[in-house]
Amino acid sequence: MTRVVLTGDADDRVVLKTARLSLRHYHRSDIETLVALLNNWDVARRLASLPHPYCQSDAEGFLERLEEGDPKVGLALAIAWNGSLIGGIALSPRSGGVPVLGYWLGEPYWGSGFMSEAVGALVSGVAAHGSPKAIDSGAFADNVASLRILEKTGFKVTGQSLKQCVARRGAFPHIDMRFSLEKDHAAAP
Ligand SMILES: CC(C)(COP(=O)(O)OP(=O)(O)OC[C@H]1O[C@@H](n2cnc3c(N)ncnc32)[C@H](O)[C@@H]1OP(=O)(O)O)[C@@H](O)C(=O)NCCC(=O)NCCS
Repeated sequence: MTRVVLTGDADDRVVLKTARLSLRHYHRSDIETLVALLNNWDVARRLASLPHPYCQSDAEGFLERLEEGDPKVGLALAIAWNGSLIGGIALSPRSGGVPVLGYWLGEPYWGSGFMSEAVGALVSGVAAHGSPKAIDSGAFADNVASLRILEKTGFKVTGQSLKQCVARRGAFPHIDMRFSLEKDHAAAP
């Protein structure tokens, strides 16, 4: 299981630290970087609900929803590396009590194991605090990297569905996956 350090750094609003990354709350000063990283078709086409193009007003609206404590957003954290925002990860509540994990990384940072590290850390953190019994996630069927991250972390396929993609304006095959936090299941190393 990924080693996780829970921190209370009030200044940087860090929630979790891993070997290379900080998972922290967003700052207003993140807006420019959010737009730069998220206004990217190759990111948007892989996410269910990211508008494309992604503009300053989208980033501002997202941060406003966080500041207002919109319950639909849940826990949304920025992923920072060497002090820079490189991606995001979120655990959003769903009816039925099983939260949904979502994440993205800016394209310049792909392929270095960052998201495996971030997902492992968040799942381990949730497991350590043991509140939900499971975490749902998944990926569009052609998103091999994301499916691999989930598989490595210990998520199991529960089915397939057609999921809407806002950027592609249609529904596409999606692999549904679940991580069980029941005692007889543990996160993969
Ligand atoms: C998907 C995404 C999060 C991956 O992040 P990343 O930091 O590059 O991923 P990692 O390096 O941690 O791990 C990717 C894994 O997939 C594997 N992989 C990547 N592309 C692959 C491919 N085409 N075929 C097979 N395996 C592949 C990597 O080898 C690695 O596995 P390994 O550790 O066993 O070698 C990132 O590309 C991204 O944000 N994409 C856009 C948004 C998105 O897809 N979000 C997820 C929505 S479900």
